[in-house]
Amino acid sequence: MSDSRAALLHPFSSPSKAEGDFVNIVRAEGSTLYDEHGKAYIDGMASLWYCQVGHGRHEIVDAVTRQMSALATYNTFDPFTNDAAREVADLVAAKSPMDDPRVFLGCSGSEAVDTALKIARLVQQRRGNDGRQIIVRRDRGYHGTNFGGTSAQGIAPNREGWGDLVPHFEQVDGDDIEEMSKLFAEKGDRIAAVISEPMQGAGGVYPPTDGYLEGMRRLCDQHGALLIFDEVICGFGRTGEWFAGQTYGVVPDLMTFAKGVTSGYLPLSGVVIGRPVADELEAGDILRHGYTYSGHPAVCAAGVANLKIIEDEGLVARSLHIGEQFEKGFQAIVGDGMAKSYRGIAAVWGLDIGRDAIPVRDALLDDGIIVRGVGESLLMCPPLVITDDEIGQMVESFAKALVQ
Ligand SMILES: Cc1ncc(COP(=O)(O)O)c(C=O)c1O
Repeated sequence: MSDSRAALLHPFSSPSKAEGDFVNIVRAEGSTLYDEHGKAYIDGMASLWYCQVGHGRHEIVDAVTRQMSALATYNTFDPFTNDAAREVADLVAAKSPMDDPRVFLGCSGSEAVDTALKIARLVQQRRGNDGRQIIVRRDRGYHGTNFGGTSAQGIAPNREGWGDLVPHFEQVDGDDIEEMSKLFAEKGDRIAAVISEPMQGAGGVYPPTDGYLEGMRRLCDQHGALLIFDEVICGFGRTGEWFAGQTYGVVPDLMTFAKGVTSGYLPLSGVVIGRPVADELEAGDILRHGYTYSGHPAVCAAGVANLKIIEDEGLVARSLHIGEQFEKGFQAIVGDGMAKSYRGIAAVWGLDIGRDAIPVRDALLDDGIIVRGVGESLLMCPPLVITDDEIGQMVESFAKALVQ
């Protein structure tokens, strides 16, 4: 088959792009990737916001090998369970901001989001609130690409062209909690839940404005709605604490996670279900929801090994040091007039360069630096093991690309 007709259809890519025009990554170590020609790249995005512990960690490979040698795969539908699934759920529960929660497992952030949305609606039904079906979403929010997450996301082009989406989603725009207050004033008795990333990621890296998350919590409490934090990017040390709910001091009712839970070595995700919601589930009949690979033992073993590395190497605290290094560089770049501003926290940042970011992202790629370009911003989210020297190389490369 010729290059231009290769079978592989890439996600979020032009279907007509020739396979040979993609960068073929063949190996990686720490924060450095190598393509098929031996060219090195600094992975300023931790792949796709997920590789917390860096690449090439044999501890995870060994743990998965041990698990697969004993039990490669089995399901966790009733009546079965396995040690790895139990252990990773316990570890995530212990690090979460919730007391005595339950943890449901899946494989992708999109599965976690759809699970959280379904559980929110289910619990409202169980509470007798049949009329509560509205899910409030936010402009710029990203919640994956299954039908629930597509309906929940605030990035309009991603919602368009698929026919009818899930009904009863209402969008709130802007960073002022007043907008959400207005929606609650109008429809509060029909709102099942609000879904929001604590710090918006894929939509452009937007930390919450002061009081916004507290405001959402207050509105949900006043009106009997559930608060869902989508921590798929924010979790596992990205914002200076295990979860952004802790960074910003707001506890949700349901919390999705994925990505950093295994550093992406194998695909694991889940929903942490706070005690009041868990009580409702436990009082009810069979939970008619689940994925074939929920609690897959090999995937969960990767999670356990990864969380141990994050803990043992103090990577949650290290994200704050990473933030200080980036901020120093951004201050110089903005001070020299090469960029307009920067925003972010700990190990996730956006640099507003005041012009289309894609050509600059491409120049950086040529220079061996991987970042994302969204609108007029360069986004970065490196492994939590990135060295000061590598951060220095990134900032130097930004300065070079921005004067061109
Ligand atoms: C906040 C958030 N939620 C959900 C998702 C979807 O995750 P996945 O691509 O694993 O389905 C993402 C992916 O980037 C995300 O950033």
